[in-house]
Amino acid sequence: MIEKIILQDYTSHITKMLPKGILLNTYADKFNSMVIGWGNIGATWNMPTFVAYVRENRFTKGCIDKTGEFSISIPLEAPDATINKICGWQSGRDIDKVKEAGLTVCEPVEISTPGVKEYPLTLECRVLHALPLDTTQLPRDIREKMYPEDVEGTYPMANRDSHTVYTAQIVSAYIIK
Ligand SMILES: Cc1cc2nc3c(=O)[nH]c(=O)nc-3n(C[C@H](O)[C@H](O)[C@H](O)COP(=O)(O)O)c2cc1C
Repeated sequence: MIEKIILQDYTSHITKMLPKGILLNTYADKFNSMVIGWGNIGATWNMPTFVAYVRENRFTKGCIDKTGEFSISIPLEAPDATINKICGWQSGRDIDKVKEAGLTVCEPVEISTPGVKEYPLTLECRVLHALPLDTTQLPRDIREKMYPEDVEGTYPMANRDSHTVYTAQIVSAYIIK
């Protein structure tokens, strides 16, 4: 069962939870969840939008590019340490995160990508625009810290890969009960 929400009532909660790690879910050939700590919730082109930053080598990137959609799952209280460890440090290329992190996948409403019961606040998102981030335009200290040239793109944390910035329309927002 789901309970539809007024998005504006939850924007400050979402902004607060983001740096602790929330989930960006995809469903290309299989369901996969990746922890994200960066993002923006707001309004673009007169629509409610979520902006996500995904590095080149993430399994997730290919999945978003294939389907043009993703869902966002946010915990109502503290994030779960096991979910964060599995979904934030391991790749869907190598493991089944549903099984390893103990996720309960729930039927979506407007798109084909489910949310998960463990992080019940759910945003269903359709990609409107994908933009490779030009790191040369960043202040040098940020570029050197966030895009270290000597770290391979396969590393789960900061590495030499740039991000693609996905601006997506939030087409449905609800809490999984
Ligand atoms: C707290 C936290 C925040 C993260 N934020 C992001 C992010 O915003 N963008 C990103 O590309 N990777 C981020 N990551 C790294 C990915 O979650 C990690 O590389 C993951 O294993 C990728 O999974 P995938 O290969 O299945 O897509 C974050 C990891 C953690 C633990």
